[in-house]
Amino acid sequence: MSADSGGKPGRTQAPFGRRLCEVADSRPAGGYRIFTLIDEDGPSPGPGQFYMLAAHPDWAAEGGRPYLPRAISHARVSGNPAGGQRLDFLIDEVGPGTSRLAAMSPGDACWITGPFGGRFSLPRQLNPKAAGAVLVGGGIGIAPMAVLRRELVDRGIPSRSLLGFRDREHSGGIDELFGCEETRLAFEDGSSGHKGYVTDLLLQILEGDDSGSAAVYSCGPPAMLEAVRRICLDRGIPVELALESPMACGYGACFGCAVPKADGGYMRLCIDGPVVRGDEIATAMAGEPAVG
Ligand SMILES: Cc1cc2nc3c(=O)[nH]c(=O)nc-3n(C[C@H](O)[C@H](O)[C@H](O)COP(=O)(O)OP(=O)(O)OC[C@H]3O[C@@H](n4cnc5c(N)ncnc54)[C@H](O)[C@@H]3O)c2cc1C
Ligand code: FES
Repeated sequence: MSADSGGKPGRTQAPFGRRLCEVADSRPAGGYRIFTLIDEDGPSPGPGQFYMLAAHPDWAAEGGRPYLPRAISHARVSGNPAGGQRLDFLIDEVGPGTSRLAAMSPGDACWITGPFGGRFSLPRQLNPKAAGAVLVGGGIGIAPMAVLRRELVDRGIPSRSLLGFRDREHSGGIDELFGCEETRLAFEDGSSGHKGYVTDLLLQILEGDDSGSAAVYSCGPPAMLEAVRRICLDRGIPVELALESPMACGYGACFGCAVPKADGGYMRLCIDGPVVRGDEIATAMAGEPAVG
């Protein structure tokens, strides 16, 4: 039985109902925060899948907001010595929901549902001629990229990671979630690595590669995702993007997360995404903010 009615292959299906998980750790990561939940009963999520989270108690304490749970991607999954799994989340405090989640301390509790949505494909599924993968992450979007990279390492599939940030403050999590090997950095303010956009690094790599053997994966701010999408589509390179849009339920019931498809109509990002192929969507910049 599952709460996920979506039909994408390879996804881990969410159990029915929400689970109350203990907060095992919470620590600063640059301008962000990483916290760890112990999920005693949940299935192992795939890279790109996400959870709906609500701290317990006092989720709706301040003037009713945050009322709805918040969609958050897992940044790492590992075994818990006492049973179950440890789920790490990378949080950017942008409003009442993420601030409440970031304020949780070890021993606190958090309601979770999921994992929801579909996962990233493997490189040979995305491009049968793929020799490896190029991962392009930006800001808080490095979280799902870190999970995908770890899976590719475990499977012995070569990958290169390109990570872009506005400045040091917005680069939290790279040291903990990414190793140094095969990772190149871009900072818009020039504080480290390449000075400029991560898409500059992507263009450099693609110029040196046979584009017929490339498979690109990306998660980050909408403008970055759209630039990555255009670069790849213009060169006929298969690309998968993990998108964001406002999510109220996470399992297909509210239609709050709808984004326009390339061939007309809409898809619900929570069940048809959040991972989409670049040529499936009209734009990566469709997710409008909502209040809930
Ligand atoms: C699949 C998925 C995975 C996500 N993973 C993470 C994650 O790993 N870590 C993380 O910190 N956040 C993640 N988010 C984003 C997070 O769920 C939203 O930013 C959420 O709205 C934050 O709630 P809040 O109450 O803190 O802020 P809100 O009050 O909801 O919003 C705060 C500010 O962000 C703006 N905003 C909210 N949503 C959007 C949007 N979709 N597009 C543009 N602007 C928006 C609002 O207008 C406001 O200015 C993810 C979202 C999705 C859909
Ligand atoms: S979040 Fe409700 S339908 Fe997608």
